[in-house]
Amino acid sequence: MTTNPDPKLAQSLDAYWMPFTANRQFKQAPRMLARAEGMHFWTPDGRKILDGIAGLWCVNAGHARPRIVQAIQQQAAEMDFAPPFNMGHPKAFELAQRLVEIAPTGMNKVFYTNSGSESVETALKMAIAYHRARGEGARTRLIGRERGYHGVNFGGISVGGIVANRKMFGTLLAGVDHIRHTHDLARNAFSRGVPEYGAEFADDLERLVALHDASTIAAVIVEPVAGSTGVLLPPKGYLQRLREICDRHGILLIFDEVITGFGRLGSPFAGQHFGVTPDLMTVAKGISNGAVPMGAVFARQHIHDTFMNGPEHLIEFFHGYTYSAHPLACAAALGTLDTYAEEGLLTRAAAMATYFEDALHALEGLPHVIDVRNIGLVGGIELAPIAGSPGKRAFDVFLECWERGVLIRTTGDTIAMSPPLIIEKAHIDELVGTVADVLRKSAA
Ligand SMILES: Cc1ncc(COP(=O)(O)O)c(C=O)c1O
Repeated sequence: MTTNPDPKLAQSLDAYWMPFTANRQFKQAPRMLARAEGMHFWTPDGRKILDGIAGLWCVNAGHARPRIVQAIQQQAAEMDFAPPFNMGHPKAFELAQRLVEIAPTGMNKVFYTNSGSESVETALKMAIAYHRARGEGARTRLIGRERGYHGVNFGGISVGGIVANRKMFGTLLAGVDHIRHTHDLARNAFSRGVPEYGAEFADDLERLVALHDASTIAAVIVEPVAGSTGVLLPPKGYLQRLREICDRHGILLIFDEVITGFGRLGSPFAGQHFGVTPDLMTVAKGISNGAVPMGAVFARQHIHDTFMNGPEHLIEFFHGYTYSAHPLACAAALGTLDTYAEEGLLTRAAAMATYFEDALHALEGLPHVIDVRNIGLVGGIELAPIAGSPGKRAFDVFLECWERGVLIRTTGDTIAMSPPLIIEKAHIDELVGTVADVLRKSAA
């Protein structure tokens, strides 16, 4: 394990309270990154690390891509900031137009935020305000799903379903309920791509409709593929069924595409991959290739139009952020979309998916592996937990992979992989091969 023998360095780590990090463990043995390019990071002492998770599911085009770097540099010199309330700048409009062109048909309005968490809050508020604007103000209830991750703000953790993210924070939002998760190891372990069994889990929404009445429900929010909880794929037909139930009851369907957006599954968005169009769609991460914080909410035309009433000099939707449509973020996102288009990255995951799938499923039978899940360029490897120490088995694998020059992510006892979409077969061999070696060694 890397140690931190320099007392001055140890001191300098003290002030930073790190997010979603075991702070004490990290500061004992820091894992520092100093530079990044393409598929790799480098540590301050020059060690090369293969990025198996696109930074944090966001650097879809790989690191330090020239068009994005130049766009940010130029924009910083030209106009650093422009107020987004009552003022505009050309790149914000150009970007919205370009985003709509790749979005699922009909999702043709774009509202900017600065993160996935803010996109979720924005979409939830839009859903409630939309129903109110059309005269159904009693529709305020929000439905999430067990094990869902929708960022860390109060709306997001309320509809979210990861217990560790919720239990420290009191009573959360009122009027929220959850449908059951879709994980079913007994029937679906080691499925290649979407699992066969479990479309009926969507019917859980009918149970909540029967309990609360549809007239009180504004929206249902789900990740098309749940990422942060450990890569849970929707069973065959599940999302279609959810869509049908929402339509039957006038409930808005929100897809949280913060991870699945921008090519992760082999289509620009998961909605297109699964042939299911939501009413609202949240994105972030890959929108700007992680280079400048940015997020957005896509809305269907009729949702937007419902707000466009009342006197024309009045604000229609009392919501927005100082940094909505930040010029640097818009420039980065335009450079990102150019890079995606020039290199065919929004569909490249489809071309690499079979090779990635075969590599991942070769892990079946290795010590502790109880499931392998994959779709596009997302992989999940679930390990049997160490009795009494949930999460430790996978975290140990993460630490050992880091020592061997490969960055993966773990959540609970599931290893997640979501490499940049520029990945080549040799990188897949290195990424999955390293995990395989570490798992073999862990049994020795
Ligand atoms: C599906 C989903 N929604 C929301 C978020 C939150 O995004 P952020 O960390 O940018 O606030 C994430 C982050 O991983 C996510 O995966």
